[in-house]
Amino acid sequence: MLSRAALSSSRTLVPALGALGSRQKHSLPDLPYDYGALEPHINAQIMQLHHSKHHATYVNNLNVLEERYREALEKGELLEAIKRDFGSFDKFKEKLTTVSVGVQGSGWGWLGFNKEQGRLQIAACFNQDPLEGTTGLIPLLGIDVWEHAYYLQYKNVRPDYLKAIWNVINWENVTERYMACKK
Ligand SMILES: [Fe+2]
Repeated sequence: MLSRAALSSSRTLVPALGALGSRQKHSLPDLPYDYGALEPHINAQIMQLHHSKHHATYVNNLNVLEERYREALEKGELLEAIKRDFGSFDKFKEKLTTVSVGVQGSGWGWLGFNKEQGRLQIAACFNQDPLEGTTGLIPLLGIDVWEHAYYLQYKNVRPDYLKAIWNVINWENVTERYMACKK
């Protein structure tokens, strides 16, 4: 797991990922019983195939995916795309903050991916309107600006909440989403 501290600055978008690099590989867990334990209802051959082939494949695929994400993070592909499409990380942050502050009433501020144009875009959605259904953008990062998301702590000062939110963004997850939809 990435620690809160490791994610404490949006500038850690790339370096924070050291933690991901040191993550242990997943391994196939042993079954707590023999392959033949469910005989005669489920025979041993099925159990062996299911565990040693199918389950093992999922575990391996997960390792491959995580490795690919780690490489993507190390290369800073998301950060590069942010710079390309918004000029700089700070400009992106400023724009998403402004758009999110500006949502009238309840809604969400979004970083999305425009698949047709192959680029990142910022959008706002009202109420529960889903990003993809409303704009066609694939969601990468969403900021909840319904009052219930911040009122208890920030009262009606949405801009303060939007300043703080940048300290807890899970860039690993955003990068995974970006890598999954950009190909
Ligand atoms: Fe919410």
